[in-house]
Amino acid sequence: MADTLILGIESSCDETGLALVALPQSGGAPTLLSHALHSQIDMHQAYGGVVPELASRDHIRRVVPLARQVLSESGKSMSDVDVVAYTKGPGLAGALLVGAGVACALGAAMGKPLLGVHHLEGHLLSPFLSADPPEFPFVALLVSGGHTQLMRVDGVGRYELLGETVDDAAGEAFDKSAKLMGLPYPGGPHLSKLAANGRADAFELPRPMLHSGNLDFSFAGLKTAVRTHLVRLGWLEQADKLAAPENQAVLADLAASTQAAIVEVLVKKSLAALKSTGLKRVVVAGGVGANKLLREQLDRACARRGIRVHYPELHLCTDNGAMIALAAAMRLQAGLATLSTEPAFDVKPRWDLATL
Ligand code: KG4
Ligand code: ZN
Repeated sequence: MADTLILGIESSCDETGLALVALPQSGGAPTLLSHALHSQIDMHQAYGGVVPELASRDHIRRVVPLARQVLSESGKSMSDVDVVAYTKGPGLAGALLVGAGVACALGAAMGKPLLGVHHLEGHLLSPFLSADPPEFPFVALLVSGGHTQLMRVDGVGRYELLGETVDDAAGEAFDKSAKLMGLPYPGGPHLSKLAANGRADAFELPRPMLHSGNLDFSFAGLKTAVRTHLVRLGWLEQADKLAAPENQAVLADLAASTQAAIVEVLVKKSLAALKSTGLKRVVVAGGVGANKLLREQLDRACARRGIRVHYPELHLCTDNGAMIALAAAMRLQAGLATLSTEPAFDVKPRWDLATL
């Protein structure tokens, strides 16, 4: 029997991602046939953050050529595709509408059913495409640019929210602190690079809600503390001071201290979630999951406790089409997919994963 072929389209923010995933009818694990990505980072960098209107227009330019690319790289044509999956939410409304619009058009023109996918479910399931996939149940630490959540995951579609940020996400804490330090957008990887030369104990920074007794996070105060240190140094919004070679060592110390504060909270809260659920497996997903210090510290802490840690492949940590096609495949396999042949522009810019 032929495999079910799924075309995945991701366009929720500043990356256009397309992918083809095959779901074996024999019941085996879905496999990634090809994927292609265009990042808009260079375009948004001049503005210090994502400009939604520019993001939407760029998705329009990229999505069809990228779809052609994944099809030709895997030797398939659109008529071979069985399901068109797209990111339905959460994300930027205009950006989501591009992916949904293209999916609807392809579906209508080719008579293919559509499947709207939750972006965070894509992140959460993305480690299933790695060489060392997890097994259910597990604790998931979802750390993207817009979300910081701890979930208990018992299976596909069985997600229980354990805790989440009450204000900024961890990715936002990285990005906003990096911006204050004069680093380019998106700040996370740049701050992390600068931090490699700094001392993590050089600046005192808060570990927000570390002892709150629950599994929630708060990162807004951290950015304010970074700002206060920069005011004291006389460097706030002083591009020349922030770029001056003689100030780079102190800036690296501030970056290292910031990264250490974010990572310590993420690691300790993840351990608390593992303890309270009694689970022995944790999956880290979302862009911040690419952070080297987070991986080192979580790996070390979990190794001591006999806990397995799973990550997506590094190139699948940030937004991509593969995770969307994969989530669609796993939903189909679990009998949870609602396929539609009706063109539906029903994107959900705000959408709670626990309601799936
Ligand atoms: O999951 P993602 O690609 O997009 C969203 O769905 O939001 O996550 C993007 C976030 C950004 O905040 C970015 O700064 C952060 O992930 N990020 C990192 C690293 N790589 C990406 N943060 C810290 N260290 C990194 N190496
Ligand atoms: Zn994402």
